[in-house]
Amino acid sequence: MAIFRIKRYNPEKRPDAYYEDFEYDFPEGATLLDCLNHIKWTQDGSLTYRMSCRSAICGSCGMKGNGHALLACQRQAAQLLKSGDQVITVEPLGNMPVIKDLVTDFKEFWEKVDQVKPYLQNKEKAPEQERQQSPEEFRKIDATSTCIMCGACYSDCNTLEVDKNFLGPAALAKAQRFVGDSRDHATRERIKELSKPGGMWDCTHCGECVERCPKPAEPFYRIKELMEVALNEGVTHNNGARHALSFVKSVKHSGRLNESKIPIESVGYFNIKGLLELVPVGLRMLLKLKIPPIFHKPIDDAKDVKRIFEEFGE
Ligand code: SF4
Ligand code: SF4
Ligand code: FES
Repeated sequence: MAIFRIKRYNPEKRPDAYYEDFEYDFPEGATLLDCLNHIKWTQDGSLTYRMSCRSAICGSCGMKGNGHALLACQRQAAQLLKSGDQVITVEPLGNMPVIKDLVTDFKEFWEKVDQVKPYLQNKEKAPEQERQQSPEEFRKIDATSTCIMCGACYSDCNTLEVDKNFLGPAALAKAQRFVGDSRDHATRERIKELSKPGGMWDCTHCGECVERCPKPAEPFYRIKELMEVALNEGVTHNNGARHALSFVKSVKHSGRLNESKIPIESVGYFNIKGLLELVPVGLRMLLKLKIPPIFHKPIDDAKDVKRIFEEFGE
């Protein structure tokens, strides 16, 4: 017998959220969604969640199982039972307000998708038939085209937890869908927009969105592709791009990071305001004796690292 510990919330009845346990001896092969349906249909009809296709296609049944975002119709309940434990914790998606039980408000999610202008911008007159792509061209946007807008990546994104201004993985993946599209003519404008605060460079590279994405869209890899386009297009007048370039320069020259120089190069040598903002952090590090060495020493085999860069034509 498994216990489904479900986070309940109904502001019309009670102001706070709480957990309620439901027992269900689910049959082999039952998905989490099958179990929720059984609980709703036989134990508590007020249990609220979204569902539609039951086939991991519509993206509506996103929720958290044991603390991680997933599609309830895609995950078998048995896979969520940890050995020796009979409890499966079910909660609404994170980083969004909860409307009721497992139903969250996607308003901000959609606003951020809108922000990246998720439509083709082509300055040429529309042809009589469709604008075509070669299979190679399509391959560049194939992965991100599989996104079903389920919000799983958005729910578990670590940056969004501390910065609501961040566009988030789904919107950035959607942006790559058009930046990488051979028929789109707004690459540079898009990349400039995406390089502003809250854009691609605010991703912390944690990779959590790749773990949570139920499709091959894998947002973090799409964000890396956007960053590559930004560097190739020379859109580097921002902290994020400067940080990436400084990072590479440091490793290339000494085989490791020059932690005194990278913050300064990231902010920019002539950015007086930005440099002054570094002072309190530097002082705090000094007081905690965490200041990096002023004289940067290369690793013993730095020439081998340089050789790797040369082999990659850097
Ligand atoms: S890799 Fe970036 S976008 Fe993905 S979850 Fe981490 S911080 Fe968010
Ligand atoms: S990128 Fe993946 S996890 Fe994020 S909304 Fe799209 S399908 Fe869902
Ligand atoms: S019900 Fe459609 S993705 Fe789960």
